[in-house]
Amino acid sequence: MIPKKRLRCGFELPILGLGTWLMGGDMARATSPQDQLDIRAIQTAIDMGYTHIDTAEIYGDGHAEELVRTAIGPYDRQQLFLASKVRQGRHDKAQLAAALDGSLKRLGTDYLDLYSLHRPTLETPFEETAAALNSAYKAGKIRAIGVCNFLPQTLDALQSFLDVPIRTNQVHYNLAFREPEACGLLQHAEEKDYFLVAWRPLRLTKRGEAAPKIAANIWDKGAFPLLDQVAEKYHATNSQIALAWTVAPKNLCALLKSSNPIHLQEGIDGIHISINNSDYRILSDNFNPIYQASDTVPLT
Ligand SMILES: NC(=O)c1ccc[n+]([C@@H]2O[C@H](COP(=O)([O-])OP(=O)(O)OC[C@H]3O[C@@H](n4cnc5c(N)ncnc54)[C@H](OP(=O)(O)O)[C@@H]3O)[C@@H](O)[C@H]2O)c1
Repeated sequence: MIPKKRLRCGFELPILGLGTWLMGGDMARATSPQDQLDIRAIQTAIDMGYTHIDTAEIYGDGHAEELVRTAIGPYDRQQLFLASKVRQGRHDKAQLAAALDGSLKRLGTDYLDLYSLHRPTLETPFEETAAALNSAYKAGKIRAIGVCNFLPQTLDALQSFLDVPIRTNQVHYNLAFREPEACGLLQHAEEKDYFLVAWRPLRLTKRGEAAPKIAANIWDKGAFPLLDQVAEKYHATNSQIALAWTVAPKNLCALLKSSNPIHLQEGIDGIHISINNSDYRILSDNFNPIYQASDTVPLT
């Protein structure tokens, strides 16, 4: 089982969850999906101890959720932590309620452990979005409310209309992308008692990008000499140290997507490494390159 972190309020989250972005397609359903491979990857992860499964209605235009439903069929639903998200632009009361019902149906469950806004939708008043989330929570369809890619002030604005506290904020965060630090989110999460959930803790470039801004992968030996040095010291791989660094702060958890059992195990081993304060600071202060904003979904 993957260990959990606990907030002051008692809410718990596994330190590492399984991502499903690019399972079943990207924003559209894949024309030649690798359904069996994806289903097997989810089941392999569950067998290894992953319980938090993160998906979204936009992943594969709903197909990722369908794959999760098939994959989790043989497992005890109560032992899993299922999280999904409503897409940006569907945050008014009727749209959000319909989106949630769609996700529940595709996932084959009558409740989600966590339901998040995928990105802020500033065109819909937060009061209305919050009312939709409040009624879904009261109806027992969602057990916790989350957001993604929210700046501290945006999170506070939504929170002021919610009946229950926001438990998670998913953000693009890894050694190279430091936007959450720059805008004070790490401190905000601790003060307001919610988890930051780092998405893309390892991958540094957008898939298919013609001219990647970073020409190397974080797991490549020789690409980031500082990471090589720290990894050697801990007898670990670069990916393990990158993950250990990501989840080192008190309120940080992470999501990892992999279809490779070796990489899934590397993720588990990574979150069990506790890097000392000095190495944490060395990596934080000297890792190069540092991007101050996400190249994919900047905070709003
Ligand atoms: N809320 C949001 O706005 C948002 C945005 C993006 C993502 N997310 C969530 O966060 C999850 C994680 O992010 P992500 O999938 O973009 O990125 P990621 O987990 O950092 O990277 C995934 C990629 O890294 C490879 N990989 C994983 N471990 C590896 C290792 N040890 N060595 C070499 N390659 C490795 C995987 O390939 P293999 O299959 O070959 O291992 C896969 O191609 C997503 O799946 C999604 O659920 C949320």
